[in-house]
Amino acid sequence: MEVTNKYIVIKHHVEDAPKQSNFELKTKAFALSVESGSDDIIVKNLYISIDPYQINRMKSYSSSQGTINFAVPITPGEAIDGAVIGKVVASGNAKFQKDDLVMGVFTWAEYSLVKEGNIIKKLESSEFPLSYHLGVLGFNGLSAYAGFFELCKPLKGEKVFVSTASGAVGNLVGQYAKLLGCYVVGCAGSQKKVALLKEKLGFDDAFNYKEETDLNSTLKRYFPDGIDVYFDNVGGEMLEAAVANMKAFGRVAICGVISEYTSAGKRASPNMLDVVYKRINIRGFLAADFLNVFEDFSTKTSDYIRTGKLKVIEDLSLGVESIPSAFVGLFKGDNIGKKIISLTEE
Ligand SMILES: NC(=O)c1ccc[n+]([C@@H]2O[C@H](COP(=O)([O-])OP(=O)(O)OC[C@H]3O[C@@H](n4cnc5c(N)ncnc54)[C@H](OP(=O)(O)O)[C@@H]3O)[C@@H](O)[C@H]2O)c1
Repeated sequence: MEVTNKYIVIKHHVEDAPKQSNFELKTKAFALSVESGSDDIIVKNLYISIDPYQINRMKSYSSSQGTINFAVPITPGEAIDGAVIGKVVASGNAKFQKDDLVMGVFTWAEYSLVKEGNIIKKLESSEFPLSYHLGVLGFNGLSAYAGFFELCKPLKGEKVFVSTASGAVGNLVGQYAKLLGCYVVGCAGSQKKVALLKEKLGFDDAFNYKEETDLNSTLKRYFPDGIDVYFDNVGGEMLEAAVANMKAFGRVAICGVISEYTSAGKRASPNMLDVVYKRINIRGFLAADFLNVFEDFSTKTSDYIRTGKLKVIEDLSLGVESIPSAFVGLFKGDNIGKKIISLTEE
């Protein structure tokens, strides 16, 4: 059987903030069977993860490209790959059967042609919605867990600041920090997000950074005695202000620098004298470096969700057609929680 497969491409490299006009929906005839002798797998995509790092793959050049296999450049006109959960429709590979649920690096499309190496894991049916494996129980969750616990080595009672605190990674960092018994302040880009952090996610305090004119004094107001741990998702001026407000021996985990992804030439320049004299530890990381703690992360996080100690915030859009606006929306602050495209009514 053959279907018309819809998929999303970039028309050309994207150098600044993405716009919907940078993308195109394409269609192509697609066989739902595999040729005999081939070990290909045909997957019907169910949930597609929408992630900020993809913008750096869309540029003609980014220093991130070539550092690790998932950061390789995206070629204009070709299907874009990313984290996807799908159901096997046909398989020439004995390890995968029809109807198996799989997660891996597939395409921003309705159907994907997949090699065994692209599949990260088979998903067993579980008590949680499938989509959780792209967010809270997947790489976003691992980024929050490993970045916070493994890099920052937080202690109960310490003062923690999280930027992009209502986003996929940020909201989990704040919740983990509260579960540990830290004092947690988050920043986000709207009053609605600030209210969510304080009223639903249990942050001690939160502020809308877009309403602040002097971030250095803002952080002084929220942390009069200084910050022990800063979990950075944005870079730029917020990182500079956080470093200025760190306590001696403070820890800064650099998870991402989204404010620098879409502004060519923008770079944080934290006061390095502060870094030296306050002996601040600033470290970048990738979740992929911490697969050794995945089991621990998954068990603890599942338990927190099961017992209602950790809230899951997802932001779903429907259909392949919604991918461009969902992706563009990440850079305008449209999403609250993990941005996912659903291709299923399940
Ligand atoms: N190291 C790793 O392994 C790893 C893994 C996953 C993600 N990350 C990084 O972690 C960060 C968060 O990713 P996520 O997936 O959780 O995305 P997300 O926070 O769910 O979504 C992006 C959010 O970024 C904020 N934002 C967009 N443009 C901004 C700007 N110019 N200045 C400040 N904030 C801006 C917006 O929230 P506001 O409304 O609050 O502005 C937006 O909602 C990103 O930097 C990402 O690259 C790293």
